[in-house]
Amino acid sequence: MHIETQRLRLRAWEGRDIAPFALANADPEVRRYYYPAILTRNETATMIADCARHLADRGFGFLAVERKSDGALIGGLGLSEAGDEIPGGPHVEIGWILARPYWRQGYALEAASACLDHAWRTLGLAEVIGYTSRINQPSRALMERLGMRSDPADDFDDVTVPGGNPLRPHVLYRVKAPAR
Ligand SMILES: CC(C)(COP(=O)(O)OP(=O)(O)OC[C@H]1O[C@@H](n2cnc3c(N)ncnc32)[C@H](O)[C@@H]1OP(=O)(O)O)[C@@H](O)C(=O)NCCC(=O)NCCS
Repeated sequence: MHIETQRLRLRAWEGRDIAPFALANADPEVRRYYYPAILTRNETATMIADCARHLADRGFGFLAVERKSDGALIGGLGLSEAGDEIPGGPHVEIGWILARPYWRQGYALEAASACLDHAWRTLGLAEVIGYTSRINQPSRALMERLGMRSDPADDFDDVTVPGGNPLRPHVLYRVKAPAR
């Protein structure tokens, strides 16, 4: 899976991505809506290895996002199989993590739009979901910009987050392949 947009390249992870992606995952602001929050360098390296395995096994995955103009690793974005804890599965989910210097420039929207296009045209998927903590407004806004829609009937609690923690209530968004 390799996707090019006007400004970005979505590609398989490489060893040189560990340091910049670890830096993003060590930023409490980037990890604000994750439980648990920040990741160590080893945890980021494990995550990258898991993504590489998923890509090899399934032919799609959560990819490195590189800026074409300077080769900077701006974050990760892509498709993966949602875990069993997500109601109504199996699902393919879209997800994203950009390092803070790359927020609010339309990069996430550009990469995610191309990724959904790939899901429909190349992978032939019928539906992609996204989910996040109810309070993750930046991620919810991106899903809405992508044309994804949520239904309160799909709301669920992430049972790995302790009761009473504001990150526990989750919303689920869906988008279907455009009619041909
Ligand atoms: C969620 C996340 C990817 C959203 O990133 P983002 O940069 O806000 O999203 P977009 O790429 O759609 O950019 C939209 C913003 O860029 C602005 N923008 C600037 N140039 C733009 C362009 N050429 N095209 C489109 N938008 C542009 C838009 O006006 C908008 O700004 P606003 O939020 O002030 O209205 C980012 O906040 C993030 O990585 N968060 C941490 C990780 C996370 O929580 N992941 C989800 C866990 S489930």
